[in-house]
Formats: sequence, C-alpha cells, structure tokens
Amino acid sequence: MSGTIVGLDFGHGVIRAAEIQDAGKARPTLVRYASLRVPATAVQRGEVIEPGTVSAALKQLWSRGRFKTKRVVLGMGNQRVLVRDLTVPNQPLNRIRESLPFQVQDLLPVPVADAILDYYPVSVVKADGGEMVNGLLVAAMKEAVLANVDAVSAAGLSPVEVDLIPFALSRAFLASADARGVVALVHIGAVTTSVVVANDGVPQFVRIMQNGGGDVDLALQSRLSIDAEQADRIKRGIGLAREQVPAEWAVAVEAIHASTGDLLGAVRNTLSYFLNSRPGLRIERVLVSGGGAQLGGLPNALADALRLPVGVPKSIEGLAIARTVDTEQLNDDPAGLPVAAGLALGSRA
Ligand SMILES: Nc1ncnc2c1ncn2[C@@H]1O[C@H](COP(=O)(O)OP(=O)(O)OP(=O)(O)O)[C@@H](O)[C@H]1O
Ligand SMILES: [Mg+2]
Repeated sequence: MSGTIVGLDFGHGVIRAAEIQDAGKARPTLVRYASLRVPATAVQRGEVIEPGTVSAALKQLWSRGRFKTKRVVLGMGNQRVLVRDLTVPNQPLNRIRESLPFQVQDLLPVPVADAILDYYPVSVVKADGGEMVNGLLVAAMKEAVLANVDAVSAAGLSPVEVDLIPFALSRAFLASADARGVVALVHIGAVTTSVVVANDGVPQFVRIMQNGGGDVDLALQSRLSIDAEQADRIKRGIGLAREQVPAEWAVAVEAIHASTGDLLGAVRNTLSYFLNSRPGLRIERVLVSGGGAQLGGLPNALADALRLPVGVPKSIEGLAIARTVDTEQLNDDPAGLPVAAGLALGSRA
C-alpha cells in the first residue's frame, strides 16, 4: 500500500510520532515529527494506564504535528513482552508461527492464550534429525498490547501493526553499512533499557531491562531529599564528572556514580550471558543511544565497563529529512526520533 505511516512511541511522560514516506523502500523520508508531554501517570513503562488522557493527547498531537495519515505502528518494549531464544525444526515461517502455541508454554509466565506470539528466524543449522532454525520468540501480554491499541483507536487512529521496540532500534541504527559485523546496541531510556546484538544488521539477541536514566533521578531524590525535577537537573548538570565538582556535591556525585554503575553492570551481565550462550562469537563494537546515554561521560563509562569501543550514532542512516519536518520539535528531544522512526520504517502494511 502506498502513502505514509506513523510510528508511535509511548515514552516516559511523552508521546512521540514520526511520519515516514516510502517506509519499505530504499530511500525512506521523514516527513513530519512531533512529540507531546503527558502526565507520567498516563503511560507507565510504555503501557497506557489512563486511556482517556492518552487519546485526548493523541488528538492534540495529530493537530500539532499536522500528520497526514491515521495509520500507525505501535511499539512494545517493557516487562510485559518477553524475548527468548527458541530453536525449532525448519519449516516455512507461517507454519512455525502457527505451531508456537503448542511449543512455548514452558517458556511463558502466563497461559499461552493470554499472549500474542511471534517468531523471528536468525539462522538455520543442520542437526541429526534434519534442519533446525535458531530464532527469537516474542511473546507479548495480550492485555498490555490491547490497552494501547484501544487508546489509539479511541483517538480515531488505526493501529495497523505492533512491533518490538528493540527491532525498531536495530532498524534505525544497526542496518547501515558501518554497522556490519557483530554490533551491540544499548538504548537507555528513562525506565527501560533495550539491548540488541545484531550480526550484519540481523538481530541475534534482544533483552529489555527495567533500568534507565530515571534510576539516577530516584537515587538523587532519596539521597538529597529533593523532587524529581531537581534531581533531573542536578544529574544533567554533573553527569559522571568527578573533578571540578564542588565538594558540597560529593553525595550527589556518589549517588550518580552508584546508580549508573548498577545500570552498566546490568548491561555487562546481559552481554556476558549472551556471549556465554554463543561460544566463538565476539562483539566488535557497541553503540549507545537514548536519552540516558546523554549523561555526561556515559559512553566512556560504558566502554570501560564492557572493555569495548563505544560509539554514539548521530543520525538514522539512510533516512532523509524532508523540509516539512519541524526541526524545533526534533531538536527539542534529540533522543526521541529513533524508536518512532524505526517502528514506521519496518512497516509492511
Ligand atoms: N543531557 C542529559 N543528561 C543526562 N540525562 C539525560 C539527558 N537528557 C536526557 N536524559 C535522561 O534520559 C532519560 C530519558 O530518555 P528517553 O527520552 O530515551 O526515555 P523515554 O523514551 O521517555 O523512556 P523509556 O524509553 O524508558 O520509556 C531520562 O532519565 C532523562 O533524565
Ligand atoms: Mg524510549
């Protein structure tokens, strides 16, 4: 189908929308982008909690951004979606997908009937009894997805697809020619961190962690008895600097380092777990993105923790930006585009 499509990202206290033209083609173009702040209570960890507030916000966002389509792709990427390795006999993909409900109950914390299941093949291997496929099982809790679909529909929009946020990110950052080889992407949000390892752009491993830049704010709030806004300001002001920070900020500095250390340790454990399951595989490079990666000194700290080269992607490779895009909106929240754009870029509808 021709026309444009909007990728919708429910962030922490913010909804972002990116309208893309020629999503499935060689040269996609961002034609419109807008974001809108919403109360943190309305959406929690990407899940709509207050449908009325969210659908009203979406209507406002559509008029602010002057989006020309109502077709949207929704993202999922919180603790209510599970991604696991799954090896199955090689068959056509639709057959594999059909067989999932009978194969995966043991892997799920909920009844199969309460989950939406999908499968992404990674590689085919020869085994004794024939060919097997290694791949990723994605299981999303129906209830969580439906809450978002309903809120979006109530705003008069048509959700045409739902996709995994880490896949959107890998499309945005790992599909380009300079992301050849085995590259890990660490996308640090406010309350979630996505880790994706891709080989020549094909995701091999995905984890969604319940950590993010917001943990630093919480640590500061409790250590200094301040509110969330003050904590966020102090965090951005100090970053991971130790030198040239006045002595009276020592407690803040320690709190920032301790909670960032926890986050980086969790990323390191996640990648070690993956590498242990794939002997012989080596991660060549790491890319770090998301608002949480803007903490001063974070890319270097991640490089130290992982002992790997760490880079920061500057833009979405291959995505043209049309003159119709409100650059003020884009610059206002520079970490905001990749999820929304990556969701739209994957659209097959
Ligand atoms: N300059 C900065 N220095 C330090 N931290 C920053 C900076 N800019 C943004 N952040 C932090 O980044 C986080 C927000 O990142 P991002 O916008 O990617 O998250 P989100 O998409 O809203 O949330 P999530 O993906 O977790 O649902 C917040 O914790 C914010 O404090
Ligand atoms: Mg996010």
